[in-house]
Order: sequence, then structure tokens, then C-alpha cells
Amino acid sequence: MRPFLLFILLLAVAVLSSLVITGNRSAESPSAETVQQFIDRHWQTPVALQGRVPESYSELESSLLPESCGSCHTQQYRDWQTSIHSKAMGPGVYGQTLVMRESDPATARVCWSCHAPLSEQQPVLLQKMQNGEEKWVINSAFNPRLQQHGMTCAACHVRKHQRVGPTRRSAPDVTGKIDEGLPHGGFIA
Ligand code: HEC
Ligand code: HEC
Ligand code: HEC
Repeated sequence: MRPFLLFILLLAVAVLSSLVITGNRSAESPSAETVQQFIDRHWQTPVALQGRVPESYSELESSLLPESCGSCHTQQYRDWQTSIHSKAMGPGVYGQTLVMRESDPATARVCWSCHAPLSEQQPVLLQKMQNGEEKWVINSAFNPRLQQHGMTCAACHVRKHQRVGPTRRSAPDVTGKIDEGLPHGGFIA
């Protein structure tokens, strides 16, 4: 993968995702610095582990699987299923990274950064040890079923188990509000 291509792709993801965050399509283009800060905050590779599920969540709400999201967001699930994102973890990538995760996990991680970007989708993680060294460790949060789903809803919409998405259409003045009364503890606009 050429670095330039990677850069363009990350930029596209960042611009798209900033739409999710602001919910404002007419906003002026963000500066390069703002885009970079956004990527650093939300698009670590891999996306940081979601961590502990909030106690108020039901089993359905705590699931990162697209079909779980789809049990409520039926239209978005249908759209996603017809998109190339749902097929991002095809047999080709899967087979190649299966070998690489042993022989060259650093390169496998580069592949996963586009093909299965959540930490929960990656069997091994690079962990910083107490002495400052980095070491590949078995990921106890790895979910093979989630990995098979490739570019999942959660990769774009879930950080620390909090949903991130555009503002409600019926009340566009609601921004950045977390409504505890809604499923999955509301969402961040
Ligand atoms: C139990 C049903 C349910 C499940 C499961 C669920 N959601 Fe939601 N979600 C809702 C409801 C209800 C809202 C609020 C819609 C509103 O206020 O207009 C919402 C809001 C959202 C929003 C805010 C954008 C919007 O305008 O609707 C996003 C993004 C979102 N959910 C993503 C997800 C993702 C990703 C998953 C799976 C990881 C998921 N949801 C699982 C019911 C659910
Ligand atoms: C910058 C993002 C990115 C990175 C990094 C990346 N890919 Fe891809 N890859 C894609 C996209 C996007 C497609 C789909 C292209 C299309 O179909 O037009 C793709 C398609 C593929 C395909 C063909 C489709 C399939 O499912 O069989 C294979 C195989 C593949 N990539 C393997 C890899 C491997 C192995 C690596 C790591 C060495 C890698 N990719 C790294 C974005 C990426
Ligand atoms: C590649 C990133 C990406 C993936 C994967 C993705 N979404 Fe989205 N989603 C977006 C963006 C960007 C928007 C905002 C679109 C807009 O404002 O028109 C959005 C909008 C939404 C909304 C708000 C209502 C709407 O339709 O505009 C919901 C709900 C939602 N997505 C749920 C899901 C669910 C459920 C999945 C998986 C089945 C999913 N998304 C997969 C990026 C993504």
C-alpha cells in the first residue's frame, strides 16, 4: 500500500466522520490541523478497545455486531449489507492476515486498519510494557465473529461504547447531548 493512497483514504474517512460528529454538511472545510487532531482522537489504528460496557446496557446494546445494531436500525443495516464495507473481510484478506499475524503482525495490523479496524476485531495487539518496550500480546477482547464483518457500524459510530452520529433530524438544535433515557445511553452528535 503506497503511503499516499493511505493518506487519501484516511483523509476521506476523517472528512466523512467529521460530518457524523458535527452533523453539519454546510460547515466550512476544517483546517488540516483540525483534521489531524480529529484523526488522532478517533482513528487510532486500531481503534482503541471500547472498554467496560456501561452497567445500564442490555446485552443487545452492549453488542458491537452489525446485526445487533440492525435489529433497531433496520434501514441502515440493509444499506450497509449492500455496501463494500460489509465485505471488507473477504477470504483473501482473511487468509493473508491469518499467516501474517504470526510472521509479521505489524504488517497484518496495517491491513486490519482498513479491513477490520476495531481492536476487538484483531487477534493480537501491540502493548506497551512497564519498561517502555512494545510487545505483541494475545488480545483477550478479540471477537472472531466481529472480525468477519469487516468495516462494521461500530468502527465508524462507537467509541468507548458511546454511539456517535448525526444530529436528530426532527430536532436539529440538539447537539452533543447524551440522553440517558435512550437505547445505548443516547448518542453524541
Ligand atoms: C435497542 C435498539 C437499538 C440498538 C440495538 C442500537 N440502537 Fe442506535 N439508536 C436507537 C435509538 C432509538 C436511537 C435514537 C434515535 C433518535 O433519537 O432519533 C439511536 C441512535 C443512534 C445513532 C444516532 C443517529 C440517529 O440519528 O439515529 C447512531 C449513530 C446509532 N444509534 C448507532 C448505533 C449502532 C452503531 C449500534 C450498534 C453497535 C446501535 N445504534 C444499536 C436504537 C438502537
Ligand atoms: C488504506 C486502506 C487499506 C489497507 C491498508 C489495505 N487494504 Fe486491502 N483493500 C482496501 C480496499 C478499499 C479494497 C477494495 C478495493 C475494491 O474492491 O475496489 C481492498 C481490497 C483488498 C482485497 C481484495 C478484496 C477481498 O476481500 O478479497 C484483498 C485480498 C486485500 N485488500 C488485502 C489486503 C492486505 C493483505 C493488506 C495488508 C497488506 C491490505 N489489503 C491493506 C483497502 C485497504
Ligand atoms: C464507513 C463509516 C460508516 C459505517 C461502516 C456505518 N456508518 Fe452509519 N453513518 C455514517 C455517516 C458518515 C453517517 C452520516 C450520513 C449523513 O449525515 O447523511 C451515518 C449515519 C447513520 C445514522 C443516522 C441516520 C442516517 O441514516 O443518516 C445511523 C442510525 C447509522 N448511520 C447507523 C449505522 C449502522 C446501524 C451501521 C451498520 C449496519 C452503520 N451506520 C455503518 C458512517 C458509517
